[in-house]
Amino acid sequence: MFTHSRGQRRRRDSEESERNHAEPGGDLEFGSYTARRQRKSPEEEERLEREHFWKIINTFTCYGSHIHERVNRAERQFLSLPKSQQNMMPNFQSNLDRIRKCADHNQEILQLIVNDCTCMFENKEYSNNGHNKPTPASTFDMDKLKSTIKQFVRDWSEEGKSEREVCYQPIINEILKYFPKDKCDPSDITILVPGAGLGRLAWEIAMHGYSCQGNEWSFFMLFSSNFVLNRIARSS
Ligand SMILES: C[S@@+](CC[C@H](N)C(=O)[O-])C[C@H]1O[C@@H](n2cnc3c(N)ncnc32)[C@H](O)[C@@H]1O
Repeated sequence: MFTHSRGQRRRRDSEESERNHAEPGGDLEFGSYTARRQRKSPEEEERLEREHFWKIINTFTCYGSHIHERVNRAERQFLSLPKSQQNMMPNFQSNLDRIRKCADHNQEILQLIVNDCTCMFENKEYSNNGHNKPTPASTFDMDKLKSTIKQFVRDWSEEGKSEREVCYQPIINEILKYFPKDKCDPSDITILVPGAGLGRLAWEIAMHGYSCQGNEWSFFMLFSSNFVLNRIARSS
């Protein structure tokens, strides 16, 4: 269902990262970055893409320990307060325990998402060249993963239904208006969803019978949409 272009994927996820970490300098900095990028040989592109692929897998793998570290830090700070101040927040520690449990649950799902990712693309295999040991992920990558998790709620949970109705339904209504099912065979109508994210809109369009293709270049999105569209059998 999804198309993607090789080479561009690594640029996309890391392009923002490089720009975010660039020194102030605006266009000039971005200009020199573009020039650097164009000089890469195909072999170098290939190597960087493979590296990027494993970097994103690593981010999925170390989410749980990242959250636990943050929660432990919050707990240490809480315990360093005088008892009288701790007593003002009686639920603080039980909330932290709840967050730990949720993080463990999220980690189980994230692990399922990245299992078998190495052979999810028809035109490319990312063999595991010893990329086994998790290393701490960058803040940038971890933030992207957290927003991917939030996007799951909007796109694929019952709780996200009202938001989906506001953002996707108007598009679906337009498609139904321009290509009414009683006047054409919807499977003859081909629709592209550019930047399809977690694939919900593309899925909805396909459920109406239209031929739909989504394209996406972020590995965060590609891993996650592959999981939700191709590998799970029940909702929520
Ligand atoms: C603002 S997000 C929207 C995602 C999705 N449509 C949604 O509503 O949740 C834009 C998406 O487009 C993807 N994207 C941006 N430029 C792209 C390109 N040139 N090719 C493929 N995907 C692209 C990004 O990775 C991102 O997932």
